[in-house]
Amino acid sequence: MLHPREPTRVPLANQPTRMHALRFAVGNTKFWLKRDDHTGSELMGNKVRKLEYLMAEASLQEATHVITCGGEQSNHARATAFAATQLGMKSHLILRCDDPANPPAATGNILLDRLVGAQIQWITRPAWRDRNRLLAEAAERIRAEGGTPYIVPEGGSNALGSWGYIRAMRELADDLATIASPAAPVTVVYACGSGGTGAGLVMGAKLFRLADRGIRVAGVNVCDDRDYFINAIMTICNDAEARWQIGANVKPEDIDMVDGHVGLGYAKSRPEELATIRDVCRSDGVVLDPVYTGKAFHGVVTELRKDPNRFGSVCFIHTGGMFGLFAAPEALSKIL
Ligand SMILES: Cc1ncc(COP(=O)(O)O)c(C=O)c1O
Repeated sequence: MLHPREPTRVPLANQPTRMHALRFAVGNTKFWLKRDDHTGSELMGNKVRKLEYLMAEASLQEATHVITCGGEQSNHARATAFAATQLGMKSHLILRCDDPANPPAATGNILLDRLVGAQIQWITRPAWRDRNRLLAEAAERIRAEGGTPYIVPEGGSNALGSWGYIRAMRELADDLATIASPAAPVTVVYACGSGGTGAGLVMGAKLFRLADRGIRVAGVNVCDDRDYFINAIMTICNDAEARWQIGANVKPEDIDMVDGHVGLGYAKSRPEELATIRDVCRSDGVVLDPVYTGKAFHGVVTELRKDPNRFGSVCFIHTGGMFGLFAAPEALSKIL
């Protein structure tokens, strides 16, 4: 049993995922990769671990429609649409783009959203500020038509969704049993985009006392900044404690957020970040994505060049995102 108060979970992800040693290295730092990009194909990535709990709640509430929101190439929105369909529900996605009158081409995740029949509501970037109101209005419309809506928040990042990475952290603790010892520390590193993955990992690390085994956790934020995410992660952890008395008792000082690698901004890539994606692909045959994993991994490489002892060994969680790569062929072709 994961925890006596673990909420209901619907199995959606292929887990446990594999852990494998990378040939790619920086100096003497050894890299391990936790293949959470193998949690599924249509459901690929970290989001499906959160959706196991969120969709279980939707099912218990007998939802007919699942509503969520994200960027135009949202991995979370795509995974939610597929999870909904697999469980016999419809999906409504609120996606932001430059010009809703001329929505982006159906490539990458959007192609899959369209293929699975998600209803897409395009909104402007300024309207994104009102996303919670828009989610509530979409729910109201579905209710008026006789349906039962269930809202999944941005990124699936709330207290319920964070259980997905408490569970993953226990999986990692087993994976790392042979690698980590207080004498040879390992840092579990993840790309942070809305905080849910981080909240689950930090709670899991505290709950399973992984620091005693030399295992630390660090996020690399791909948008916003350190303070924003410490606050976002603390909010999720506090909500989870209030609801389930988990006993992790996370404090702000437990959260290591490696800031300074957002680069040109969310979902914007610099050539050196794309070059790191190419290099990892050529050394190990593993594809990182430009928005999350490639940017965060490049951040780790940059930190190690400044301070080779920053992390000990690195266990990088590959949280998925490959479909987004197919929406950015021009930028990538430049570094091939
Ligand atoms: C591929 C990928 N990696 C990492 C993240 C970040 O996870 P979180 O939103 O839980 O911080 C996301 C989503 O935002 C993602 O799609």
